[in-house]
Amino acid sequence: MQEYMIEGYLKTDRYLVNFNTEDLPSEFFDVVIIGSGIAGVYTALSCPRNTRVLIITKESIEINNSVLAQGGIAVSLDQNDSTDLHFKDTLYAGAGLCDDTAVKALVTEAAENIANLCLYGVNFDRDSHRRLSLTREGAHSINRIIHTGDATGKEVCDTLVSAVSCLDNVVIKEQTFAIDILTEKGECKGVLTTNEEGTELVAYYAPVVVCASGGYGRLYSKTTNPEVATGDGASMAYRAGAELMDLEFVQFHPTVLCHPENQSFLISEAVRGEGAVLRNHKGERFMEQYHPLKELAPRDVVSRAIFQEMQKNNISHVFLDITHKDKEFLENRFPTIYSKCLSYGIDMSKDYIPVAPSQHYSMGGIKTDEWANTNILGLYAVGEAACNGIHGANRLASNSLLEGLVFGRRIGKIVKENLDSIKIREGFKPKIKNDRKYIEKEIDCRSLIKRLQSVMNNNVGIIRTKESLNEAMETVMEISSLVEGVNASNVQMIELKNMLILSAQVIKAALTRKESRGAHYRSDYPDTDDINWLRNIVFRGEPNND
Ligand code: SIN
Repeated sequence: MQEYMIEGYLKTDRYLVNFNTEDLPSEFFDVVIIGSGIAGVYTALSCPRNTRVLIITKESIEINNSVLAQGGIAVSLDQNDSTDLHFKDTLYAGAGLCDDTAVKALVTEAAENIANLCLYGVNFDRDSHRRLSLTREGAHSINRIIHTGDATGKEVCDTLVSAVSCLDNVVIKEQTFAIDILTEKGECKGVLTTNEEGTELVAYYAPVVVCASGGYGRLYSKTTNPEVATGDGASMAYRAGAELMDLEFVQFHPTVLCHPENQSFLISEAVRGEGAVLRNHKGERFMEQYHPLKELAPRDVVSRAIFQEMQKNNISHVFLDITHKDKEFLENRFPTIYSKCLSYGIDMSKDYIPVAPSQHYSMGGIKTDEWANTNILGLYAVGEAACNGIHGANRLASNSLLEGLVFGRRIGKIVKENLDSIKIREGFKPKIKNDRKYIEKEIDCRSLIKRLQSVMNNNVGIIRTKESLNEAMETVMEISSLVEGVNASNVQMIELKNMLILSAQVIKAALTRKESRGAHYRSDYPDTDDINWLRNIVFRGEPNND
């Protein structure tokens, strides 16, 4: 992989709080997993039953981004489909930036993992022959998305969470916030955590730590992501010296409900897969002016087209029209979306749905190879927290839950193959401390977070320029200076510090990429530059007191 490496853009403390492992309450496991979305839970299920596994999650186990996934999971099952075609579609959507080896793993191991989900009891929709029903989403050249109505993520997560909850070898700790990855001589040794109030530090040591903490959607004020998606995983990995990659590629979902009372509810791409079309304020279709695949063009193309329509006509949203389908079909196929829209007085069998693009997915994250290894021994990353190159510059729809499955299972295989070394724990407790003197100061974190999210939304969104990005960087630096050296005594302050570190890298990456590619569009560099382009922009954190 050809890379453009930037050494630690925003200088940061190695650790966010004071501690000394000599005095800390601690527990030992074979594997510690940060995050309880599909990637984290499936990784736990994939580890051998004779390993002791801990899942920590900062909220309750069912609050994560995977649960909200509506559309489904991509898998080549149709008789006219193939893993090669899925591979080709993924690469096309990824705009030249995908990692072929990782994508190969994704598409070839898809079916076996779906079969595994069926064994766990996931109830996917089936046709009259009991075959898995397949629908279409943007940039797929064939029907390839398996689903459970419009709540696929919830069905998969509920099933996997109940499976993992029955396992004696897996411990789940909720309301447990991971502050920092513990490292000694550059090797990962465990995770430093705190409770909700930020008052009780505990260290969990393990030879294998898996970061499955999700993406960084909450850097933006308008997002489909839950509140927990503050990019903590990438930020703490960066402080530990991990590499972050492709951060400039932020996916905006084209069709998010735009109603005065709700601007974060997703209207699944599968609605367009079932024939919905986009219309502007005059009721005219416009996608044919932007891409031959029209409403089913890659997600970045559709989002940009809607954004341009909105700007051109000075309107806050466009409309999604699926009125050619009757109420019975819609209630059955999209029960969640149908009832949510109805609760706002929108009957999608008769009314157009007001929609606008909103942040949805982070392509960038902690750099890994195709076996989820980071550059830090013992630290793995999987799911949206990771960047292994499968999504390139723009993720193909419904490849994300699949990513969590395929690479989570691969981590399970690594654990199994290295059981002997993983099981050795003698002398494992490391001696690590952070005794930096912090300032005690009352800071209104909530308002600073809001300010940060708003500038990220307005200046680092669907269309960027050097000026917009520089302005955003100024805001990030100004807020950073307000919290520099201040004790991270509560979870909100830790989140704010994480968000600042990550925002700075996202902006720096977006400034560095002087071309438009996939989800990264610079109106001052509107063309894709296939000659002098930088492939992957990588940041490496510089721990200053490890
Ligand atoms: C959707 O249902 O449109 C979202 C699916 C995805 O993000 O892949």
